[in-house]
Amino acid sequence: GAPVEADVSKLAVGDMVTVEWRGKPVWILRRTPEMLATLEHNKARLADPVSGEPQQPEYATNRQRSIKPEYLVVIGICTHLGCSPSEKFAIGTTEGMTADWPGGFLCPCHGSIFDLAGRVYLSQPAPTNLEIPPHKWLSDGLVLIG
Ligand code: FES
Repeated sequence: GAPVEADVSKLAVGDMVTVEWRGKPVWILRRTPEMLATLEHNKARLADPVSGEPQQPEYATNRQRSIKPEYLVVIGICTHLGCSPSEKFAIGTTEGMTADWPGGFLCPCHGSIFDLAGRVYLSQPAPTNLEIPPHKWLSDGLVLIG
């Protein structure tokens, strides 16, 4: 499939858009400072803290799993059996959310939970983090996926 350009220059902080690439949903989430802060406390609870398997782009191995800390670019397909997780951002207002899981993504099929970098928690059906697609930034608000 051809690479896909996404213009996120108008994406508000805290919002997410979905673009399609190779028939897959790619989420682009513009994270708030509060969202990024939740990533700092998670490490001991992660099943795949360094995105070791399958091999991910090098820019997926930092804590934010992104090139620009603010923007998460991730494939919205559960690494268990391929369902589409739902976004769960609002702390404490959504079913299934706990103090230990301050929101991120929740797979409706078998309940896997992921943080706001698409990192899977320990003891979930999904074995690995959500996949980061190959991508690069063409300018401040324009990202090329693929
Ligand atoms: Fe997501 Fe099974 S497909 S938990």
